[in-house]
Amino acid sequence: EKGGHDYFMLKEIAEQPRAVADTLLGRVGADGQLVLDEMRLSDQELRDINKIIVVACGTSYHAGLIAKYAIEHWAGVPCEVELASEFRYRDPILNRDTLVVVITQSGETMDTLMAVRHAREQRSRVLAICNVNGSTIPRESDAVLYTHAGPEIAVASTKAFLTQLVACYLVALYLAQIRGTKFGDEISQVIEWLAQIPARVEEVLRTVEPVRALARSLADERCVLFLGRHVGFPVALEGALKLKELAYMHAEGFAAGELKHGPIALIEEGLPVVVVVPSPIGQRVLHDKIVSNIQEIRARGAMTIVIAEEGDSAVAPYADTLISIPAVPTLLQPLVATVPLQVFACELAAAKGHDVDQPRNLAKSVTVE
Ligand code: M6R
Repeated sequence: EKGGHDYFMLKEIAEQPRAVADTLLGRVGADGQLVLDEMRLSDQELRDINKIIVVACGTSYHAGLIAKYAIEHWAGVPCEVELASEFRYRDPILNRDTLVVVITQSGETMDTLMAVRHAREQRSRVLAICNVNGSTIPRESDAVLYTHAGPEIAVASTKAFLTQLVACYLVALYLAQIRGTKFGDEISQVIEWLAQIPARVEEVLRTVEPVRALARSLADERCVLFLGRHVGFPVALEGALKLKELAYMHAEGFAAGELKHGPIALIEEGLPVVVVVPSPIGQRVLHDKIVSNIQEIRARGAMTIVIAEEGDSAVAPYADTLISIPAVPTLLQPLVATVPLQVFACELAAAKGHDVDQPRNLAKSVTVE
């Protein structure tokens, strides 16, 4: 049942190329345009929207943080992202022209369901991005876009996360398409790029062996920090969450630009710090800033574990361990950058002798508020 893997989590990590391909299937027309008719919201309704609020928990919330970059960049619609457990307790400003996008693997998360009900009471439209057909949240939403990750058994979300990202990109690109935002060419190029992602994720999976060795060597550490910028920031948060839930270690993700505003005080001799580096070509300015951050923390003794685009020679000299990922457009980088972090957490937890698929204190779907 685990397909020859030791854990469901490893099986699900390995299934990611297929999960991403399935989530794209049937959604790109022969002319390269997106077709999302299953969504149940008319193009006119989607054109009338003037604000999007993405609401989710845990890993799904991290997908939402990445969605914001895509929605604002491609579709030009203002977008906020909120933890479902906070959403309805802060009087969010909602009306008919607000689209609330909820992201949930299980479709049963109580915090998220309560957010759906609250948004609909305020007459906002609710679009659910969900992995489980016919679950409660899609049933209570106005529209649904299913991810096709297939059943996810391990408590730690992996393939569902990647397919949630794909669904978020599809929503952002579809909004751009029907609203005719100025990035027309970019939109069709990104759609072509998305089709390449399963092959790129395959490449990452073929080259993760050194990540496993690294993870095993860190099994006695007490704390790991994760840094990123732009869409790499939510990737850092996701890397830290995986490590917390599986390895029961203190792990924290920061926006690298915030280092000097406090977190750099945490750096001490030998502290492992994982850094997700933006593309040196697509994101020159942020890339160079993060390379300086890596030099700063290394000078203070950090052990730097650097996830960077293949051929990034500027960062290589400052990486104690360099993990290369394929070059993809900036906004899509989380699809490849997250994979080594999943493997890292899984292997480290296994090295500590933990139950990877059923971590202590956690449930696969959290049906209480
Ligand atoms: O089913 P959902 O996507 O609504 O679940 C949300 C979170 O409970 C979930 O992502 C949780 O954080 C995972 N264990 C993360 O690996």
